[in-house]
Amino acid sequence: MTCDRNENRILNNNNHKSFFCFSLFVFFSSILKADPNWCRSPHLPNGEVSCRSPRGGAHRGLLGTRCEMTCDRGYRLLGRTSIQCLANRLWSGSAYCRRVRCHVLPLIPQGRYFCTQSFFVDSRCEFTCRPGYRIEGEHSRTCLHRGSWSGVQPECSDTDPPKIRCPPSRLKVAEPGKLTARVSWDPPAATDTADKYLNVVLVDQQPGSEFKEGLHVIRYKVYDQARNRAACKFIVRVEVRRCPELPPPLHGYLICSSDGNNYGAECEYLCDGGYERKGASSRVCQFNRSWSGGPAECVPMQFKFSVQTVGALLDQFYEKRRLLIMSAPNISDPDYQLQNIMIQKSDCGLDLRHVTVVELLGSPPRETGRIKENLLQPDVIEGLRQAFRISRFYFSLVLLDKLGIDRERFIVPVSSEELFSYIDSFLMEEEERERLVLHRDFCD
Ligand SMILES: *[C@@H]1O[C@H](CO)[C@@H](O)[C@H](O)[C@H]1NC(C)=O
Ligand SMILES: *[C@@H]1O[C@H](CO)[C@@H](O)[C@H](O)[C@H]1NC(C)=O
Repeated sequence: MTCDRNENRILNNNNHKSFFCFSLFVFFSSILKADPNWCRSPHLPNGEVSCRSPRGGAHRGLLGTRCEMTCDRGYRLLGRTSIQCLANRLWSGSAYCRRVRCHVLPLIPQGRYFCTQSFFVDSRCEFTCRPGYRIEGEHSRTCLHRGSWSGVQPECSDTDPPKIRCPPSRLKVAEPGKLTARVSWDPPAATDTADKYLNVVLVDQQPGSEFKEGLHVIRYKVYDQARNRAACKFIVRVEVRRCPELPPPLHGYLICSSDGNNYGAECEYLCDGGYERKGASSRVCQFNRSWSGGPAECVPMQFKFSVQTVGALLDQFYEKRRLLIMSAPNISDPDYQLQNIMIQKSDCGLDLRHVTVVELLGSPPRETGRIKENLLQPDVIEGLRQAFRISRFYFSLVLLDKLGIDRERFIVPVSSEELFSYIDSFLMEEEERERLVLHRDFCD
């Protein structure tokens, strides 16, 4: 027997058979509709299935049951969000929860990161930097449920300044005879947490160079690769040790080397014309700020005029005095008298120029020779006349230098200006001339 859907319409014709078919259909339908395992209970790993069955209640496999599929946090649903249990005992679709992943985070230069749950949702990745670097930006990024990272990549930047330590300050005494000192030191060591190669810059004078008297601040600067800066400084002090100023001798003067009274300077004692040194010729300024030796004196030169030979007389003047020999036939000679007038009151100027005047007058047996009031022996007078060819018969002037050599001869009287100008121009040494300039006013 077959039953079909048209059987209800033929109920009147074949009442018995129709009723039977109808009843069978209802019977099976109700059995089928009531089967709780008509479809296999839906299962969604990492997700949740919530179903509504036509009969209500907790049945999940009844024919016609509709289920909504949702995935757990961190999972994305692939497939149908809603399925129904069909008459063919199958669900109308399938679904599957796939774990959501964020992309692999790139590494950051000079840093690293650690993630709590790899690159899955809710994983928090903490960034750290190498020593010497600091995070710029957010310290962490979180994998969001849609699969993207929160925030932006941070950077590691070198913000730590390098460290530098200067050598200790130092005091150096200027070298003997100098106003400077050579000062050396080891360049400071610089370190940095991030960089190995640092740019250390010396701002001032180089080690090993000459430093002047006083304080010098030496500065070093150091830069790392990120141009972070550090600096240090120290002081170089140069001391010039000095002796007390040395007083010049009475009737004399000093010529000093270097700066006059610094450690190592040497002062030479020199005497004015007509004076000679008694004592050490020079003194040196010592490290303990005292002068070596003792002071020298300038004492008037002592000559012996009663000597018997011209040699014995001239030897005493050798390298000390110039001689101006003035000769005339007698004391009433007009040239002699004129000359006397012209160089009267010139004693000071003559002395300043280290000139001693020798007078030779008359002829034997009434011949005189003198240096100021000191009379000379007849042999000495004769010796001078012969040595320098000085005539007894006419007026003449002979000028001898300090070595006893006749340098100039006058046969007419000369003024003291003329005479001095000649001496200053032709007989003086440089030092003597300077000294003369210094004392020129002394005679006025
Ligand atoms: C300075 O030193 C010298 C030796 O170098 C010594 O003879 C002298 O006595 C010292 N003077 C003083 C004042 O200490
Ligand atoms: C002095 O010398 C001159 C020549 O220069 C001579 O004429 C005169 O007589 C001399 N007088 C005396 C006092 O000897």
